[in-house]
Amino acid sequence: MEPRLFLPLALALVLLASAPVVFCATDPQDVAALQAVMRQWTNYPSTWNSGDPCGGWDGVMCTGDRVTSLRLSSVNIAGTLSTSIGQLSQLIYLDLSFNKDLGGPLPGQIGNLKQLTTLILAGCTFSGPIPAEIGSLRELYFLALNSNKFTGGIPPSIGILSKLFWLDLADNQLTGTIPVSTSTSPGLDRLVNTKHFHFNKNQLTGTLNGLFSSNMTLLHILFDSNKFSGSIPSELGGITTLEVLRLDRNGFVGEIPATIGNLVKLNEMNLASNSLTGSVPDLSNLTTLNVVDLSNNTFNASVAPSWFTTLTSLTSVSIASGKLSGQVPKGLFTLPNLQQVLLNNNQFNGTLEMTGNISNLLQTVNLMDNQIVDANVASYKNALLLAGNLLCTEQDSTSKPYCSRQLKTGTSYTTKTQCSSTRQCSGNQYQDPSSCSCAFSYNGKMVFRAPLFTDLTNSAPFQQLELSMWTQLKLRPNSVYLSDVHLNDDSYLQVQVKLFPTSGTTFSVSELTRIGFDLSNQTYKPPKNFGPYFFIADSYAPLLGSVGGKKSKMGIGAIAGIAAGGGLLVIALIFMSIFALRQKRRATELRDRADPFASWTAGQKDSGGAPQLKGARFFSFDELKSCTSNFSDSHEIGSGGYGKVYKGTLVDGTRVAIKRAQPNSMQGAVEFKNEIELLSRVHHRNLVSLIGFCFEQGEQMLVYEYISNGTLRENLTARGTYLDWKKRLRVALGSARGLAYLHELADPPIIHRDVKSTNILLDDNLKAKVADFGLSKLVADTEKGHVSTQVKGTLGYLDPEYYMTQQLSEKSDVYSFGVVMLEMVSGRQPIEKGRYIVREVRQAIDPTDHDRHYGLRAIVDPAIRDAARGPGFRRFVQLAMLCVDESAAARPAMSAVVKEIEAMLQDEPAGTAGPGDSSTEPSANDFDGAGAGPLAHPYSDVEISRGSYAADGASDYMPYFEVKPK
Ligand SMILES: *[C@@H]1O[C@H](CO)[C@@H](O)[C@H](O)[C@H]1NC(C)=O
Ligand SMILES: *[C@@H]1O[C@H](CO)[C@@H](O)[C@H](O)[C@H]1NC(C)=O
Ligand SMILES: *[C@@H]1O[C@H](CO)[C@@H](O)[C@H](O)[C@H]1NC(C)=O
Ligand SMILES: *[C@@H]1O[C@H](CO)[C@@H](O)[C@H](O)[C@H]1NC(C)=O
Repeated sequence: MEPRLFLPLALALVLLASAPVVFCATDPQDVAALQAVMRQWTNYPSTWNSGDPCGGWDGVMCTGDRVTSLRLSSVNIAGTLSTSIGQLSQLIYLDLSFNKDLGGPLPGQIGNLKQLTTLILAGCTFSGPIPAEIGSLRELYFLALNSNKFTGGIPPSIGILSKLFWLDLADNQLTGTIPVSTSTSPGLDRLVNTKHFHFNKNQLTGTLNGLFSSNMTLLHILFDSNKFSGSIPSELGGITTLEVLRLDRNGFVGEIPATIGNLVKLNEMNLASNSLTGSVPDLSNLTTLNVVDLSNNTFNASVAPSWFTTLTSLTSVSIASGKLSGQVPKGLFTLPNLQQVLLNNNQFNGTLEMTGNISNLLQTVNLMDNQIVDANVASYKNALLLAGNLLCTEQDSTSKPYCSRQLKTGTSYTTKTQCSSTRQCSGNQYQDPSSCSCAFSYNGKMVFRAPLFTDLTNSAPFQQLELSMWTQLKLRPNSVYLSDVHLNDDSYLQVQVKLFPTSGTTFSVSELTRIGFDLSNQTYKPPKNFGPYFFIADSYAPLLGSVGGKKSKMGIGAIAGIAAGGGLLVIALIFMSIFALRQKRRATELRDRADPFASWTAGQKDSGGAPQLKGARFFSFDELKSCTSNFSDSHEIGSGGYGKVYKGTLVDGTRVAIKRAQPNSMQGAVEFKNEIELLSRVHHRNLVSLIGFCFEQGEQMLVYEYISNGTLRENLTARGTYLDWKKRLRVALGSARGLAYLHELADPPIIHRDVKSTNILLDDNLKAKVADFGLSKLVADTEKGHVSTQVKGTLGYLDPEYYMTQQLSEKSDVYSFGVVMLEMVSGRQPIEKGRYIVREVRQAIDPTDHDRHYGLRAIVDPAIRDAARGPGFRRFVQLAMLCVDESAAARPAMSAVVKEIEAMLQDEPAGTAGPGDSSTEPSANDFDGAGAGPLAHPYSDVEISRGSYAADGASDYMPYFEVKPK
């Protein structure tokens, strides 16, 4: 080594030794990119001042050593977005929403993020054009650039993004036309998989010709408040998936195409304030339409359309200035869901008849400025405006209240607190309605772009909204305060929201980014009748100008100064860093081997210490990698939304099933720890046991005992083992015992939440073992009657009472188990060819059919038809039907189910083959069913009426049907 090098090296050593955690497990390119991004910000989380990005920086999440997720919603970042963002080449999620002081241009380098699926910049102040490079983000699924200051046109290249689900460009200053593809250029007409076109509140111009086709699958078209012109294209009527259509406040002309009558799923149609001509459209086939507004157009004079009295789904009817004449149809007011009628400025004449069965939801009727001569309205008590009709003269306005022009409306909803006194809080604090103490709430406005109701005085929907917020956003009960509820000038329902911290007086940065993400990427779903929403957070007061920036800038400045002092030092530093990094990795490996939880506690802040494990051990990534031949396809035995399941053989010969989470289904360290603690606590011969886990190198894996004989489902089909009647009884008994243990003996008790035949595994002796506690919930967590955050489970097995009330209890498992019992009886899937087994059996049961099959001959699995008959069979069916009783209270506890099946087995004639005589090749364990797939309603052949509609995007995840048994 040259002597000249020595001094800088020594200096470097001193520098390195004095800084506690300068070495990064994070990829150096990503570290450099993050530091460059940070240099353009003045108010970033304080954790960014030191340590390793992957381990400790708020909002940074990694897979391996690469940064895959940057979630910094609502943390008051100020500055611009560095072009270096493009160097985070493995980024999958980028959420910078609700940072009001973050703006400037969106750099074209964003196009380098080829893995990006989610890009959210809502509620910042980005300006300039949307870069065309955005078309390079081929994986993009969720794009929200709304509520910024973007100018210029919509780049045609967005039309290439074939995976796009959500496209929100609303509330910017965009101009130009919506690009449509040509032979040389892409266009938005190609987005046939996109569900959401939210372009409202811009200055977009031109026609919509060529944009729509029946190949599209849109749910929401929000084009309101732009400057579109031309006619409404008839191809729009081909998008029969459409639920919300808002074209209001534009310059559309011509007749409304008749094809609009084909949009049979539409819940809201707003075409108000255009220059539409021709006649009022025939909407009589739109039987789920709730809100219709056709006001302020230039329709031909006509009488009221016939659908005024036939569309029973209507909640709000508005055709102000519609040249409607004749009598106001009396039947309109008796539509059962009607809340609001706005028909002012028409030519209605004759007598207003509001008699008979008037909708008791009706709150507002505005018929001002018509030619009504008399009114028969004594039985209607709510707001009625008839000023400007022939029956009102100027002086009537005091004697006849309905002749006033002032709408007397009730006070709209505000959260009522339980607090005895209203406390004046200092500074920017507010009183938490749940604790009555003062705290820094997270505030913002929530805007519903197409609410399906108009009565803002009724508490019920808003209390539902509060409940959905504190449950889904994981806050304390009642810690949500709603105020300033009003319909704004855009016909949006606007609500001021305050969310209060779960403990202490402030939210932590990680809580803010979590809640901000849930609200910006639509993870949070409001109740169905609120419709699509967006949220814009206010700046969070405690973070304003308080952290980040200065300290780090000095650090960087100091380093830069030293570097300038000796160019060689830089080289030495890099050299030393690489060396030290390698040393550190080696040390970490050694330490991990000695104490598997050291990395857990060191690397993952907030994880709350090492997990308390009973019997489960830690596996290194390399160990699992080698026992599955590097996770090769030949070892794969199952897959699902969470990732894949592999089989492997440990060094000691134990066969295991390894469930490996994929990056986007990973949980936080705390959740993962909780899950393995829970799983490791449960030991019972009828439950699949957890052997261990791996939590390193950005992986989350669970290692289970391998169960060789496949799932109950597989064994009920021809290719599985033949299960005779008695074996089925044994399998039922075993799985019932496993569940009874979870409910009644595990400490604390556990609700499985996804009992189904693919989660019951059979071992070599056909002993049943219940698997997959991925959805399990501690009973203590749910308390009694707690409303769970999200309905989880699997189509066909879902307890209808839980599904409707979201009240989770052990009895939901009992329901699912009843469905499994019926599967064993019939051999069928719970839902096959659109028929639901519970319903089929319930209808077919014939108690008078004593010695045959209890009326179920056609349903019983032919394989057991001869053995399964008589009293034992009837008893089994009766027990199953008790388990699937509509009312949770009427269902037996699992321990009672166990006793009953035990008794049945004793009464079975001896001689049929017992367990242990099976020998089929081992088949795949199915650990699937983590509830990742979309849910559907358990009733598949009942009439499903969508009287009010699925909330925004919610129909993609959550079933929002009202069920009317036929
Ligand atoms: C719909 O898709 C088909 C197949 O991709 C294509 O041939 C057809 O041109 C499309 N129709 C329209 C109207 O875009
Ligand atoms: C309503 O649907 C029926 C049956 O599909 C059809 O014959 C009729 O033309 C439709 N009416 C309108 C106005 O679209
Ligand atoms: C219709 O026009 C009137 C008068 O310009 C306006 O007050 C009203 O808000 C408009 N209604 C809608 C739904 O745009
Ligand atoms: C009410 O309007 C209808 C339809 O325009 C018209 O035929 C009728 O003559 C009008 N009645 C009166 C009393 O003006």
